[in-house]
Amino acid sequence: MTDKNASFALGNETLSFPIKDGSIGPSVIDISKLYGASKMFTYDPGFTSTASCESKITYIDGDEGVLLYRGYPIEQLAEHTDFLETCYLLLYGELPTADEKEDFVGRVTRHTMVHEQMNRFYSGFRRDAHPMAVMVGTVGALSAFYHDSLDITDPFQRMVASIRMIAKMPTIAAMAYKYSIGQPFIYPKNDLDYSSNFLRMCFAIPCEEYVVNPILSRALDRIFILHADHEQNASTSTVRLAGSSGANPFACIAAGIACLWGPAHGGANEAALDMLTEIGTPDRIPHYVARAKDKNDPFRLMGFGHRVYKNYDPRAKIMQQTCHDVLKIVGNPDDPLLQVAIELERIALHDEYFIEKKLYPNIDFYSGITLKAMGFPTSMFTVLFAVARTVGWIAQWKEMIEDPSQKIGRPRQLYTGAVRRDVTAVADRG
Ligand code: SDX
Repeated sequence: MTDKNASFALGNETLSFPIKDGSIGPSVIDISKLYGASKMFTYDPGFTSTASCESKITYIDGDEGVLLYRGYPIEQLAEHTDFLETCYLLLYGELPTADEKEDFVGRVTRHTMVHEQMNRFYSGFRRDAHPMAVMVGTVGALSAFYHDSLDITDPFQRMVASIRMIAKMPTIAAMAYKYSIGQPFIYPKNDLDYSSNFLRMCFAIPCEEYVVNPILSRALDRIFILHADHEQNASTSTVRLAGSSGANPFACIAAGIACLWGPAHGGANEAALDMLTEIGTPDRIPHYVARAKDKNDPFRLMGFGHRVYKNYDPRAKIMQQTCHDVLKIVGNPDDPLLQVAIELERIALHDEYFIEKKLYPNIDFYSGITLKAMGFPTSMFTVLFAVARTVGWIAQWKEMIEDPSQKIGRPRQLYTGAVRRDVTAVADRG
């Protein structure tokens, strides 16, 4: 840490604030005392230049296209670990030893069932409800079932709630899918790994044995690793803000799911596939690229651009390879959607507008094609994102709760509304 200050003149005063250095990445100017010293706030809608917290979990270098989970490059984790190893790393800060992994996998496996009364919860939804609506409702309702892991001041209860969330999200997600297609729920099986269990709960039917394709299970596990955490993105910031009030972890995760649903965030994988489907054939791409560049047209190329990455999203590269691997097994390597995606990417990466604005494909660009080839409907794409991101939300929530300096998040505003005025009787208005 270097002892430096940032100073600026305000009127005839010079204000000075400490600069804090991280282990890597941009330093920060600690302005927590700015209002006391100036009676002024900073102003940063969208938080483009604001660090909301200190964290040791995930590091992103948007200019270099670097993503590290606890210091490990995402490329290496996707190649050499499985999702539950990555979950352990995000939660506890180190990759597990063989014994630690066996214990952790055992604890997660034994929490994959949900309370049997949860089954009845689903029947309150219309069959055509969007699965993300079901996820928001059912995950929030977990706090009505698990009263023994709601006390966030108790480290043991925090750990139990964390394991329960990671373990039950695939079950709840698979139940949402089964409910939407009118098929019976499939219980988890303890002799299957995390991703194989999820595939079986989604695609097995009681009338016949379901054999998990190990290549698809490995591909899905890799997709979960890629989506596991991503610094202080919108849904993670939502979970942190909800948790800062002391809300229980299930309610906080439900808030994160709600935020992730938006098409500018986790909903982009569903929106990207819908866009590729609407484009339909490569010859129609120039029309859509022109629309994306037109300031008067709200249309954006879904799956392109990122608040942080001003280079290729490192996850997108791995996602692209995974997409090809999956299409070789269960799709059509000449899938017209993939052809449109490859041509759209080629055009966009050579187009001045996208180069100047540093708009590259992000993780959502190829994930939709992959998940569709695996048999998931587009409405389930963001649900899978939520299943994977739950460990990131939980790890960030845990880090915040365990931070002794933690306090409720309560931003201020620039008020530009009406100044004080008196109420007049209704007869005297107008
Ligand atoms: C995720 O934060 C995270 O880490 C998120 C995530 C995670 O893992 O949690 O990485 C997951 O959400 C990935 C992003 C998925 N969203 C999409 O693919 C939706 C399409 N992308 C855009 O909506 C947009 O790029 C955002 C929302 C992702 C980022 O928007 P920013 O940072 O607020 O940037 P901006 O909207 O200010 O855009 C900068 C310029 C603008 O032009 P100007 O006003 O400067 O002239 O680039 C343009 C935008 O119009 N632009 C696009 C574009 N994205 C930005 N133009 C066309 N197509 C696009 N996709």
